[in-house]
Amino acid sequence: LPRKIYVTRKLPEDIESRLAEHFDVRSWDEEDKPVPRETLLEEIKDVDGLFCMITEKIDEEILQAGKHLKVVANMAVGYNNIDVETATANGITVTNTPDVLTETTADLAFALLMASARRLTETSDTLRKGEWGAWSPMQFTGQDIFGATLGIIGLGRIGEAVVKRAKGFEMDVLYHSRTRKKDKESELDIGYAELDQLLTKADFALLLLPYSSESHHLIGKRELALMKENAILINASRGGIVDEDALYHALNNGEIWGAGLDVYEQEPVPTDHPLLTLSNVTAVPHIGSASVKTRRAMADLAADNLIEGLNGKKAVTPVNLHN
Ligand code: GLV
Ligand code: GLV
Repeated sequence: LPRKIYVTRKLPEDIESRLAEHFDVRSWDEEDKPVPRETLLEEIKDVDGLFCMITEKIDEEILQAGKHLKVVANMAVGYNNIDVETATANGITVTNTPDVLTETTADLAFALLMASARRLTETSDTLRKGEWGAWSPMQFTGQDIFGATLGIIGLGRIGEAVVKRAKGFEMDVLYHSRTRKKDKESELDIGYAELDQLLTKADFALLLLPYSSESHHLIGKRELALMKENAILINASRGGIVDEDALYHALNNGEIWGAGLDVYEQEPVPTDHPLLTLSNVTAVPHIGSASVKTRRAMADLAADNLIEGLNGKKAVTPVNLHN
């Protein structure tokens, strides 16, 4: 009898077909709306595998309800939406989609940095509204990128990929991470800094670390106060790492110059969110990995994880180490 899986969102058709060759597949077919929790709690009861997104909270209740569950394949590199500890205790393999999105996400992080520095979305909106006025010496002026100092907080694969881009712009690069990576310092020509020191020196502070109870509100009032007045904060990892109230006040009071955000504490971010009223915020809707090629590669890798993991082999990219 084929194994049963549940897929929490509409996928490209060829990937759905591939899954159907291996499994008895049930799925939530809406593209724009996550599966309701009650539906997932019901569907999880008799499946062996789950193909899910960051929009699903896979907590203890869901994991306990999945009596036959063996593999949870998250279509994302980050997996803070999953209670990995409980999964591990229940013998459930959790997988993510590393590597395939590294360059694409680094592209977006750097694009967000550039768009914020040069006010691309703000000035484009101004033009469309017919409010361009006339060319004048200091109109629409931003911050330089070439030769500036970039501070990367969280030097994983994506951070390293950003360094390569930054070096093309002759940026000085500092990094902070929980464990210092001395070998990377000479290899990539970057310098280590304590968090406070990095924030004090950076023209751009880029967040690329995973979200956890340890990184929750890592950037708050005190940290923002350390930053330079011309500095720009870029968040391309998870919203919860930044205290959004504190960020709003720092931006509104001119304590920092701007912010570029791909992620928010609540997603979709409500349109009346205070941060969205500020002209010095460049805001995009969690599109870090969103290239056609990379989203397909992520879906393929999540599918491979289920196919391998449920056929008695080792999953391709497990995040827990029990098997
Ligand atoms: C998206 O945010 C991911 O973690 O892949
Ligand atoms: C995080 O997983 C990264 O690849 O930087």
